[in-house]
Amino acid sequence: MDKKVTVIGAGNVGATTAQRLAEKELCDVVLIDIVEGVPQGKSLDLMEAAPVEKHDAKITGSNGYEESAGSDIVIITAGLPRKPGMSRDDLISTNAKIMSGVTKEVAKHSPDAILIIVSNPLDAMCHVAFDACGFSKNKVIGMAGVLDSARFRAFIAMELNVSVENTHAFVLGGHGDTMVPLPRYSTVAGIPITELMSRDRIDALVDRTANGGAEIVGLLKTGSAFYAPASAVVEMAESILKDKKKILPCAAYLQGEYGYDDLFIGVPVKLGKDGIEQIVEIELTDDEKTALDKSAAAVTELKAKLKELA
Ligand code: NAI
Ligand code: 2OP
Repeated sequence: MDKKVTVIGAGNVGATTAQRLAEKELCDVVLIDIVEGVPQGKSLDLMEAAPVEKHDAKITGSNGYEESAGSDIVIITAGLPRKPGMSRDDLISTNAKIMSGVTKEVAKHSPDAILIIVSNPLDAMCHVAFDACGFSKNKVIGMAGVLDSARFRAFIAMELNVSVENTHAFVLGGHGDTMVPLPRYSTVAGIPITELMSRDRIDALVDRTANGGAEIVGLLKTGSAFYAPASAVVEMAESILKDKKKILPCAAYLQGEYGYDDLFIGVPVKLGKDGIEQIVEIELTDDEKTALDKSAAAVTELKAKLKELA
């Protein structure tokens, strides 16, 4: 393949992401983890599936960064996932150390890469990565909104018994309890869901979306979601690798947009070969803006916690 993507963290999200990237023949994949044998074993296993899956992507596993040199995109999933009873924010101190160390290595070996951050707490980890890599702001992007919107879309399709392909949804804000699903901008075949469902049902789906991560953690008990997160990362990577210029909700570094400064938070962005090529500012009602302000305040609090930890 003429594109190369490195996935750091060969756990549930990382390995599934590597599998989806390869099976879509988007790029060659380098899978890195600190645990000896795991990235090598999972990569070899994926390579052995290739003849049956019919793809020619190369997947290489490593415990070092040499093989990752010159990557077009680096996806960082390294870190702890949450367990039942934990919030994403409980992971901040461990994952901040991991994120900082990993990102410095990435910047050394792939100075022109675009970073997609996945580890939690997502918006705070974007700040850590941004500070550690020194890349321009269009090249550091957080994955959360595509996942949260996919969950909302799945619930809308289940509720109305329609194809998921007919659904569109936007979830903005931080990737936490304060995330902001936007029913007014969520549609089925172009029809806003506010015309298709009662207020009570919309509220129930919004609530299920905001707690979507916890719902999976509660069921799995030993970790968090990974199939839908991997799908979400791959949609972002594909838009960049193919310069598709999709508008997707992603955590982006804001400098005045939506009234926030020096803050990573989920907003609609255009993703193309240069990473974030545009931040799209949509009209919000007073209630929607108040909800986004609350979410921004929660991310700002986490940013302050990072300073205390430093
Ligand atoms: P996992 O535990 O299955 O995998 C994490 C991997 O990171 C492990 O294999 C571990 O050995 C590796 N790792 C730890 N330190 C490392 C280092 N310094 N260098 C390289 N690898 C290292 O966890 P999972 O389920 O894959 O989740 C990964 C992260 O992604 C978690 O923080 C989780 O909360 C987050 N997440 C975020 C989502 C989002 O929407 N942004 C969605 C799903 C997960
Ligand atoms: C999720 O939303 C754990 O953040 C992850 O599933």
